[in-house]
Amino acid sequence: QLNQKHMINLVLFGKPGAGKGTQAEFLKEKYNLKHISTGDVFRFNIKNGTDLGTLAKSYIDKGDLVPDEVTIKMLQEEVEKNPDADGFIFDGFPRTAAQAEALDNFLESKDMKINATIALEANDEVLLERLLERGKVSGRSDDQDIAKIRNRFDEYNVKTTPVKEFYESQDKFYTVDGIGTLAEITERLTKVIEDLE
Ligand code: AP5
Repeated sequence: QLNQKHMINLVLFGKPGAGKGTQAEFLKEKYNLKHISTGDVFRFNIKNGTDLGTLAKSYIDKGDLVPDEVTIKMLQEEVEKNPDADGFIFDGFPRTAAQAEALDNFLESKDMKINATIALEANDEVLLERLLERGKVSGRSDDQDIAKIRNRFDEYNVKTTPVKEFYESQDKFYTVDGIGTLAEITERLTKVIEDLE
C-alpha cells in the first residue's frame, strides 16, 4: 500500500529541454523510484491511437499544454498503477498551479507528499539548440520547428511559472544548474536529495 513513511517523491521541474527526462533515468535507478513522465504517457497513447492520444495530439503538435482535467486524471491513474513503488519522480507534471494543487490533494488522500521540487536551469538558447538537435533524430512533432518550441517556452512562462511559487511557499523548491555534463548534473541533483531531511 502506498504511504509516505519511507517514500521519496520528487518533482523534476524545468523548461522544455532542461534535461528532466534524461536525469530522471539516472535518479530512478539510484533511488529505486518510479518515473512518471506525462509527456511520455501522452506519446505512448498517440502511438497506440487511443482516444486520449488523439485528444492530446491536437495540443502537443502545436506546443500547447493539454487541458488540466485530462492530464490530472491520467497522472492519478499512473500513480495508482504502481501501489508498491518506493516513491515517484514526476517529470513534466505539475505544469500549472491547478495541477500542483490537484497533486497535493491527491497525494494527501494517499498519505503521501512531495518531498522536493528540483528545477533544472538553462537559458532558452541552449534549450532551443538541444531540442532542434533531438528533433532531427526523435521525430518528435513538437521539436521540429522553432515556432513550436518558442510556443512551448511561452506556455511555460505563462502557465508553469506559478508552480515554482506554489512549491516555494512550501519551502520545497530547489534549483540546480542544468548546464554541464550529464554526470555533473546528476551529482548536483543527488546533493539536493541527500540533503533533504
Ligand atoms: P514533455 O514530454 O514533458 O516535454 P517537455 O517538457 O517539453 O520536455 P522535454 O522532454 O522536451 O525536455 P526534458 O526537460 O525532459 O529534457 P530531456 O531530458 O528530454 O511534454 C511534451 C508535451 O506534452 C507538452 O508540450 C504538452 O503538450 C504535453 N504535456 C506533458 N505534460 C503535460 C502536463 N503536465 N500538462 C499539460 N500538458 C502536458 O533533454 C532534452 C534534450 O537535451 C535531449 O536530446 C537530451 O539528450 C539533451 N540533453 C539533456 N541534458 C543535456 C546536457 N546536460 N547537455 C547537453 N544535452 C543534454
